[in-house]
Amino acid sequence: MNKVVSIDAAPGSNSLAAFDVERVRRDFPILKQKVYGKSLVFLDSGASAQKPQVVIDAVRECYETYYSNVHRGAHFLSQRCTDAYEAVRADIAGFINAPSENNVVITSSVTESINLVAQTWGRKFLKAGDEVIVSEMEHHANIVPWQLLETEIGITIKVAPIDENGEFLLDSFKQLLSPKTKLVAITEVSNVLGTIVPVKEVIRLAHAAGALVLIDGAQGIVHHGVDVQDLDCDFYGFTGHKLYGPSGVGVLYGKAEVLSAMPPYQGGGDMIEKVSFSGTTFKEPPHRFEAGTPPIAQVIGLGAAIRYVSGLGMDNIAAHEQGLLAYANSRIEDLGGVRIVGQAHDKAAIISFLLDGAHPFDVAAVLDRQGVATRVGHHCAEPLMDRLGVVGTVRASFGLYNTSDDVDRLIAALGKAKDLLL
Ligand code: ALA
Repeated sequence: MNKVVSIDAAPGSNSLAAFDVERVRRDFPILKQKVYGKSLVFLDSGASAQKPQVVIDAVRECYETYYSNVHRGAHFLSQRCTDAYEAVRADIAGFINAPSENNVVITSSVTESINLVAQTWGRKFLKAGDEVIVSEMEHHANIVPWQLLETEIGITIKVAPIDENGEFLLDSFKQLLSPKTKLVAITEVSNVLGTIVPVKEVIRLAHAAGALVLIDGAQGIVHHGVDVQDLDCDFYGFTGHKLYGPSGVGVLYGKAEVLSAMPPYQGGGDMIEKVSFSGTTFKEPPHRFEAGTPPIAQVIGLGAAIRYVSGLGMDNIAAHEQGLLAYANSRIEDLGGVRIVGQAHDKAAIISFLLDGAHPFDVAAVLDRQGVATRVGHHCAEPLMDRLGVVGTVRASFGLYNTSDDVDRLIAALGKAKDLLL
């Protein structure tokens, strides 16, 4: 493991020098506060990231100056709000390099994005005996929707394994593929282990076997740039609140021909062409999948978040976070007595760990009292906990605003936990 002394200075790298983390931090008002009299160290961005002022301002400006329902009114505000809302759809398409904004379905969360695919594509195209492959690292949101179809339709769920380090086993995955495989639904980055799954290769192999692929990008898109056309995935889901945007908004990208073949998800206003008691016709995608009033201000906020991270540069964010990850790994190793759960070769800046001899909840409580916010528990990935033989972990998940000082504070707080708990 490479030792990195300081990542904030990043000598010799022009692009990293341009990433001034102290300036970035000033964009996030919440980071200025103290908890328990100590300056906040926020290492829980994997659960939900903090919001820059531009996102807060965009939401406020929407409500203060042009909020109205979209796609409905003939009046000035409705038109302005509709334009702003639809402009974000185009921004999202650009951000993930979708061919068109028509590939972008607005949902409430990545959970809803996955459920949408299960309930529309899944119910139409899957039959008893068909197989859906997930991995051992999936979040419950990418397991349970398929289990519902297992019960309802009789599909079979196959689970692609990982090794002790949390490495995705590509060869074992290959063995699972067969003519029965209709869908591979897989995370891009494990929310627990940080493992970066080689999704491009997974997609290539799945397509060669005749299966479609859904990527759960909730934890992936925040750490590195995403190009859905280069990946060639059939579906890609992500959520706004982990991408420094508001909660209550998510995205489902789908290939045009796949979305066109899918029946509606929920019925209601705005997704129809014509309703009568003798029958109803539906709009083309993406509007076919967006019944009812959408999360308007949240979409506006997500647009601001996308412009914000794009302005910083996803490559710069990735490089900054990789520096933090390497630094944190080396400091944890030096501290001793802490086991990092998840040592895959390619990782995003997510570190799950256990302090030998202490319960993870006790550790997280001590860290909290030191002003260090982490997540503890099974992280909505109980099958993964079972696979690893642990009840839970403490998880430090880094965002673009974290610094090497934050890592130092984590290490100091872990030292305190060792003193108090061992
Ligand atoms: N899925 C979120 C996490 O991993 C909540 O923490």
